[in-house]
Amino acid sequence: MTAPDAHADAPLAMRRDPRQPLCPAPDLLAVDAAGGITEISMPVPTPGAGRTWLVTRYDDVRAVLGNPMSFSNVLRLPEGGPGGTISPTGQGSLPGLDPPLHTRLRRLVSAEFSARRVAALRPAVEAATADALAAIGGQDRADLVATVAQPIPAVVIAELLGVPPTDRGEFCRRSAVALDTRLPALTRADNRAEMLAYMLRLVTELRDDPGTGLLGALITRHGADMSDAELVATGNMLLLAGHETTAGLIAQSLLFLLGQPALREQVLHDEQSLTRGVEELLRYLTVFHFSFPRTAVFRTTIAGTVIEAGDRVLCSIPVANWDQRRYHDAGQFRPLREAAPHLAFGHGIHYCLGAPLARLEMYTVLPAFFAAFPAAGIDPQADIRYRHGSLAFGLDALEALLR
Ligand code: HEM
Repeated sequence: MTAPDAHADAPLAMRRDPRQPLCPAPDLLAVDAAGGITEISMPVPTPGAGRTWLVTRYDDVRAVLGNPMSFSNVLRLPEGGPGGTISPTGQGSLPGLDPPLHTRLRRLVSAEFSARRVAALRPAVEAATADALAAIGGQDRADLVATVAQPIPAVVIAELLGVPPTDRGEFCRRSAVALDTRLPALTRADNRAEMLAYMLRLVTELRDDPGTGLLGALITRHGADMSDAELVATGNMLLLAGHETTAGLIAQSLLFLLGQPALREQVLHDEQSLTRGVEELLRYLTVFHFSFPRTAVFRTTIAGTVIEAGDRVLCSIPVANWDQRRYHDAGQFRPLREAAPHLAFGHGIHYCLGAPLARLEMYTVLPAFFAAFPAAGIDPQADIRYRHGSLAFGLDALEALLR
């Protein structure tokens, strides 16, 4: 296993014990003992912000996420309260907007990201999975991040957005670069700029010929009301929000199930156990380990603690998802755990738009992988590299023995 890189100076909410990769955040659990809300000292991205609070109890995290009128998604509140903007280049989108801007855009996008569209993506998910598994079919070992976890969600997002087949290779290559934290920062920044430029070209082309993807559908129905920047922001946001997270979840789930044959059998036993097992993987692994920032709009209280207007509130979903008050044996993976909703997809008006798609990918990839490679296991000498400094907790490499 590669030694973890230095991340001791990372903000508290981002720090993990690399020796316990499947535990969301042991040091954060210690924070929770202080009572669920703690003032923390950490570098904040914008100067002039008030104090910063870390919220860790399930009920409190849910209450903050569920109250957008008191807790804004905008880091620095403009005069007069909540807001958010989309830049002319198409940066910033739903997660950075408050109502009413958020309400309008969310309504437009969610109408097109419907259950029907997700169901229609099933053949694409199955084909992407079959292609990925066929590519490693003759091998004795493979890096499951590079071959399975990373490419499948990228192909699926290309299909979702309506990226034409001729651009798919380039789109997926750029998506892979965006995820590779081993590359120099400059290379990744250039890649981000090129991806934004590509999205603008795509939107321009789709205005002439919308095709069948989500961006084309938005143009067909709302093309006159939606600016290019909004469309670029939507495409870019769906890629950012949907690729790293799903890749991280698939990679971590494969790693976890490779090392736990008995649990694997329980999870893959039938459709019902797969559905429950995936919810438990979502809770237990909580790949979105970033603490969601909110800004208090008014003076308010959380769990009896006074929060001043302008204070930053970080909601720690990994810790909330391991809250002992909420889940019996929270730190244990229980594949048949009684349905107890988790916060892995957030809560409230910013609840994950892609949750049904992420679930569909899990329901497809996990059984297909273990059916194709029933004897697969972790190589004790394996190169398993955890990602640091990213929003989603995942792996940069997972070498496994396939037979
Ligand atoms: C929002 C998690 C996959 C699109 C969110 C939020 C969470 C989350 C926790 C709430 C953020 C907040 O409250 O500020 C995840 C996880 C995923 C996943 C764990 C996979 C395992 C996807 C996919 C897509 C997607 C596949 C689309 C292709 C979005 C969008 C939002 C969002 C658009 C913003 C919604 C809004 O602000 O109204 N996601 N997500 N996500 N997610 Fe996901």
